[in-house]
Amino acid sequence: MNNKEIVAKAIYDVVKEDLSLEAVTQLLENPKSVDHGDVAFPAFSLAKVYRKAPQQIAADLAEKIAGTDFEKIEVVGPYLNFFMNKKMVSQAVIGQIAKDKGHYGDSSIGEKGNVPIDMSSPNIAKPISMGHLRSTVIGNSIAFILEKIGYTPIRINHLGDWGTQFGKLIVGYKKWGSEEAVKTAPITELLRLYVQFHEEAETQPELEEEARAWFKKLEEGDEEATELWQWFRTESLKEFDKIYSMLEVSFDSYNGEAFYNDKMDEIVTMLEEKHLLQENEGAEIVDLSAYDLNPALIKKSDGATLYITRDLAAAVYRKRNYDFAKSIYVVGNEQSNHFKQLKAVLKELGFDWSQDMHHIPFGLITQGGKKLSTRKGKIVLLEEVLNEAVELANKQIMEKNPDLPNRDEVARQVGIGSVIFHDLKNDRLNNFDFVLEEVVRFEGETGPYVQYTHARAMSILRKADFTIDETKAYALDDKDSWEVVKLLQKFPDVVMQAAEKYEPSVIAKHAIQVAQAFNKYYAHVKILTDDEQKESRLALVYAMATIIKEDLRLLGLHAPNEM
Ligand code: ARG
Repeated sequence: MNNKEIVAKAIYDVVKEDLSLEAVTQLLENPKSVDHGDVAFPAFSLAKVYRKAPQQIAADLAEKIAGTDFEKIEVVGPYLNFFMNKKMVSQAVIGQIAKDKGHYGDSSIGEKGNVPIDMSSPNIAKPISMGHLRSTVIGNSIAFILEKIGYTPIRINHLGDWGTQFGKLIVGYKKWGSEEAVKTAPITELLRLYVQFHEEAETQPELEEEARAWFKKLEEGDEEATELWQWFRTESLKEFDKIYSMLEVSFDSYNGEAFYNDKMDEIVTMLEEKHLLQENEGAEIVDLSAYDLNPALIKKSDGATLYITRDLAAAVYRKRNYDFAKSIYVVGNEQSNHFKQLKAVLKELGFDWSQDMHHIPFGLITQGGKKLSTRKGKIVLLEEVLNEAVELANKQIMEKNPDLPNRDEVARQVGIGSVIFHDLKNDRLNNFDFVLEEVVRFEGETGPYVQYTHARAMSILRKADFTIDETKAYALDDKDSWEVVKLLQKFPDVVMQAAEKYEPSVIAKHAIQVAQAFNKYYAHVKILTDDEQKESRLALVYAMATIIKEDLRLLGLHAPNEM
């Protein structure tokens, strides 16, 4: 039970006749300052029932509420301030963590239900962008969080591997490309061919016609076209995989847009049978004015299908293949309308499960407050950013701990982790500026700071040669440890909140708070002094390290034991 639940129960026991347990719980407040205890109850709402002044009611209640759960109950005006029994709570919390270890806060709410998570999903032959990075790390963290509460996440990379641009690439490659160049630097070369195609097409418009013809061939399964397309796809994926392996993110499926080529006819037929398709200047659309949305363009006048047509087929496929409990799309905020349209069309088709589909949008990564742009050749190469982060981490570790045996590995975990942490620590819808030096700092609200706090705790435990014993009772009652205990106690609620909101920042913020509270504790209290509470203090250090490590795991970061 958390503190609110304990207090609610204690009050309820004496006001049973007049208030429900739920009503009591809803009235409870978090005091603004620790001097006012851990939970507060305003007695106003009982004034009508008891026909007495709230102050008097508060005083009466305080007298009636008994039990060992509280150190004291203070009456301040109309408020009852509850001070929890620190020893009891800390003993329960540390004991539970000692027993559950990293599984503290696990639940089975998800009942193993499948949750496909559409994440990362970059476009073939183009550089993976900062937006795709965000989708990758947010999606990965949501997968861990949902798994912790009992769901089965399925990470899907819905690659952008289809579309008219492949006609252009084939033309470009045949005219100006080289096999060698594609093999050594696929994305750079394919991007170059794409750019060159557009430049040349300005003076030679017939190129566009050629490109269309090649895409048509590709759609019809022409051998040469298919082989080239397959090759571009494979080479691009190899390049993407470098980044995925740096981030340590893996996928259960790489079924991209092309996978749905043969699955769209069925959708179009369904739309026809339900009389949902309308003709509009030769194109086929679904009217969505009832939803206050623009019409969904299903087929162009030349018969070509679109992004949304493939997403309709993908949604139906996922329902059939995974029988999902919910289906999640981690895609930038700018595609909000697309996902609204997608859900609306599915609803029109009579698929009730469309309400289980959730678009999880996120904001932009900016530089100097401005949007990063891929056009004009100014692309930010992710691989370089990640490598630089590792280098910066390495330098700092070198200064702090020059003899660290596995320094390169730790620098990797800290450097890459810092970029992930920075991405996840703010509400996902916020835009944020990316300044590498800020991201990799060991102080402030950063990943390295949290990791460093964990490593420091582990070093204390090593020094003391401490192992936790889950059969022992560890209890503390000083006010510095209390702040840490309360945060650890909150962890299961924090996980639930993060899951409900699809918001990894809730976990990241918790990790920062725990780290800060612990460092304060460490500064005020001599942990290793030999007295009767030493074991309990060490047990708290253990519990703290366990939870920080779990926080970090849920975000996709390692917690090195030494750094
Ligand atoms: N490839 C798309 C892009 O880069 C993202 C795809 C998102 N997923 C989806 N099912 N539409 O913008």
